[in-house]
Amino acid sequence: MSDRLHTLSGYLYEYQKSIAQPEEFWSRIADSFFWRKRWTKTLKWNFQEPDVRWFEGGKLNITENIFEKQLFTLGETPAIIWEPNDPHEASRTITYRELFEEVGRFANALKAKGVQKGDRVIIYMPMIPEAAIAMLACARIGAVHSVVFAGFSSTSLADRILDCKAKVILTSDGNFRGNKKIGVKAVVDEALEKAPVETVIVYKRTGQEVFITPKRDFWWHEVIEGVSSTNKAEVMDAEDMLFILYTSGSTGKPKGVVHTTAGYMVYTKYSFENVFQYSPGDVYWCTADIGWITGHSYIVYGPLLAGATTVMFEGVPTYPDAGRFWAIVEKHKVNQFYTAPTAIRALQAFGTEPIEGYDLSSLKVLGSVGEPINEEAWHWYHTHIGKGKCPIVDTWWQTETGGIMVSPLAGITPTKPAYATLPLPGIQLCIVDSEGNELTGNGVEGNLCIKFPWPSMIRTTYGDHERCRQTYFSTYKNMYFTGDGVKRDHDGYYRILGRVDDVINVSGHRMGTAEVENAINEHPKVIESAVVGFPHEVKGQGIYAYVICDMSNRTEDNLINEIKDTVSKIIGPIAKPDKIQIVPGLPKTRSGKIMRRILRKVAEGALDSMGDTSTLLDPEVVEKIIEGRK
Ligand code: WTA
Repeated sequence: MSDRLHTLSGYLYEYQKSIAQPEEFWSRIADSFFWRKRWTKTLKWNFQEPDVRWFEGGKLNITENIFEKQLFTLGETPAIIWEPNDPHEASRTITYRELFEEVGRFANALKAKGVQKGDRVIIYMPMIPEAAIAMLACARIGAVHSVVFAGFSSTSLADRILDCKAKVILTSDGNFRGNKKIGVKAVVDEALEKAPVETVIVYKRTGQEVFITPKRDFWWHEVIEGVSSTNKAEVMDAEDMLFILYTSGSTGKPKGVVHTTAGYMVYTKYSFENVFQYSPGDVYWCTADIGWITGHSYIVYGPLLAGATTVMFEGVPTYPDAGRFWAIVEKHKVNQFYTAPTAIRALQAFGTEPIEGYDLSSLKVLGSVGEPINEEAWHWYHTHIGKGKCPIVDTWWQTETGGIMVSPLAGITPTKPAYATLPLPGIQLCIVDSEGNELTGNGVEGNLCIKFPWPSMIRTTYGDHERCRQTYFSTYKNMYFTGDGVKRDHDGYYRILGRVDDVINVSGHRMGTAEVENAINEHPKVIESAVVGFPHEVKGQGIYAYVICDMSNRTEDNLINEIKDTVSKIIGPIAKPDKIQIVPGLPKTRSGKIMRRILRKVAEGALDSMGDTSTLLDPEVVEKIIEGRK
């Protein structure tokens, strides 16, 4: 706990130190971890390639820093408290010692199935402790995990299996979500037709019937039966790959963001302790899914490295009713609660009645992540959930950054609604104009870049380093470009304004417009499509699709439903367009480029601020699009 900051002046002092002497700063933090061999060079970097190495020469295993290092003091402390979808089912509490044993046992089982250091293992599982056990067991033996959100379709899953050349998939028979029982193994089976793997291990969760292919598919409980829990951790290099996590960008295909061992470990623990001001004995709950980076860094790795008790919830915020979150806070006496603005807005729509009667007095800190939080939601969260006494940490970060970059430190940094406030120590932000000139001073607005490496940053995109360079390091020289717009106000506080590229943020989930267009275009009647985001009350942004279709033998309604189903099938239900407008043409420039600016304006309903349309090939098409607006 020695690295926890306690005061604003302490933060400001540490921040200055971290900028003036980054290597000394991070060496000091890293020294509190357990290393098999200390590193020789703290940082080597070059943003041209990019080539970034932290703690080079160091040898370690991240799970030894969770378990062996802490067992003596934390053995009987709850590591994971699991709350099932159905409130009538018993919750599970797993201590550090029990988790250590389960991880060791499953690590041995994976080894027995031939999984070796460096092999890729896909985890396609519901929110059950075994998903965390699976991640940690991979890390224990040096296998690279790639968690795929269990709401993704078989096609998305197959793409990821092929891209990372996975050897094994860990999954479940099914998934309980709200009042639904969803087939999970069935989706895996479909994916495997296109993208075979050697081994599938299936955890029995719902008890529903599944197909088992002999010699390939095994039951989880059978592979661990009689297996020893004693497992010697694989000794990893600081820069060995820890995991791959796929995320959407402006181009069609999701990319595999690669995080490595030591830097990710150091930064997730440090940021967790400082942002949430976690104290021993606290119960912390992050509502994200482990399929996203938030689940990786702030359900599993950060909290467990810090010796925290982390709550994992299987279900949804509105089942059996809109008071479920608060029932869980009361039941487990949650102290730090971390969720997404979309969940807050969805619950806000039910009013305050579902909150009444629950004791939320355990809450000390509230967190927000994934998308800009609007002021109204911020105030509602602050007043009705935090009862005006809990600081809100609005945490800005990305899959690529590995950990929280800009955020108040709870109770230390004065907050301001909708502002992520100030960078964490070690984070050197930079606002640039479209030419890449740094905008200095306060009261400026531009694109958000980072000009110096931090330990948990993306190292590459799996199998395609050039794509990593192109996407993040080529827009502005010697800087990592985040894709977000930002404002620095007169107090020097940062407010994230949202994406400036073709990425939209739907309910906190990142979606590439090109990715959705590609899925729409798979429908045989679709000739061309263009997708943009539009403001949505609950989701933050919704998906608006303009589609040119061959209408023969189809009615419009029919076609719209079929297109929605196509997208659901290809990507997953989360990518289903909210609005589809069949259009006679798309606004294009003479060089054939779609003018998305215009489509965004129409989707927003900002019809009187269409801007200059004179460069369009066919300006009339805009009139027709406006007429048919949904
Ligand atoms: C957006 C999620 C405003 C942003 C951790 C970023 C936010 C993208 C915030 C990354 C926030 C995340 N305020 N916007 N507090 N947090 N974003 O990779 O546009 O799923 O680039 O990582 O979400 O999404 P990702």
